[in-house]
Amino acid sequence: MVDSEKKATATIRRRYNRMAFVYDLIESPMERRFAAWRRRLRERVAGPRALEVGVGTGKNLAYYPDGVSVTAIDFSPRMLARARATARRRGMTIDFHEMDVQRLDLPAHSFDTIFATFVFCSVPDPVSGLAELKRVCKPGGRLLLLEHMRPGSFWLGLLFDALNPLMVRMTGANINRRTLANIEQAGWKIDVAQPLSGDIVWWIEATR
Ligand SMILES: C[S@@+](CC[C@H](N)C(=O)[O-])C[C@H]1O[C@@H](n2cnc3c(N)ncnc32)[C@H](O)[C@@H]1O
Repeated sequence: MVDSEKKATATIRRRYNRMAFVYDLIESPMERRFAAWRRRLRERVAGPRALEVGVGTGKNLAYYPDGVSVTAIDFSPRMLARARATARRRGMTIDFHEMDVQRLDLPAHSFDTIFATFVFCSVPDPVSGLAELKRVCKPGGRLLLLEHMRPGSFWLGLLFDALNPLMVRMTGANINRRTLANIEQAGWKIDVAQPLSGDIVWWIEATR
């Protein structure tokens, strides 16, 4: 990783650390809508081994299917501390690690399903993160993502581009990522790309 990427990663990590204690509060107005989408994880995450990337405060824990052994990573120690507390409250055993998706300290071909919700908007180099996920996924394994992206309409797209620097500064998240193209560039085969809210929030399934 070059110095500029290390710096960008440290900046975004700091933003999530700073936000960790108010994150659930800030998100709460949208969470009812998000919860309906998160529920898909219960049917779609297959084991025996799964990896959640960017676990945050642990909002997806409620939707982990029974009988699947889940490893969960996040590069923000404060977000991860919240996820650990969520797991304790729910009496769940999860293998948590502080780790950057751009450089995973995990062996190749380890996981049957890899999933992330609202994460690749903030990973500084999303293609290298998605390529790392391909490396640690078993052959024939699946990637499940819930992501917001740059809208396709010309004017709305330009508006999102214009607002993006402010959003990154405030929240650490980019609102103009072309995540479908990034997934393909990282070598995944997209099977499902379903818009859920306009063409901004998408449910994506891909195969290694
Ligand atoms: C918008 S939050 C989403 C949290 C959770 N997935 C959810 O749906 O509520 C993004 C999360 O991804 C984590 N994240 C961002 N970039 C990361 C990276 N390079 N490696 C690991 N985690 C990362 C952040 O620390 C944060 O917890």
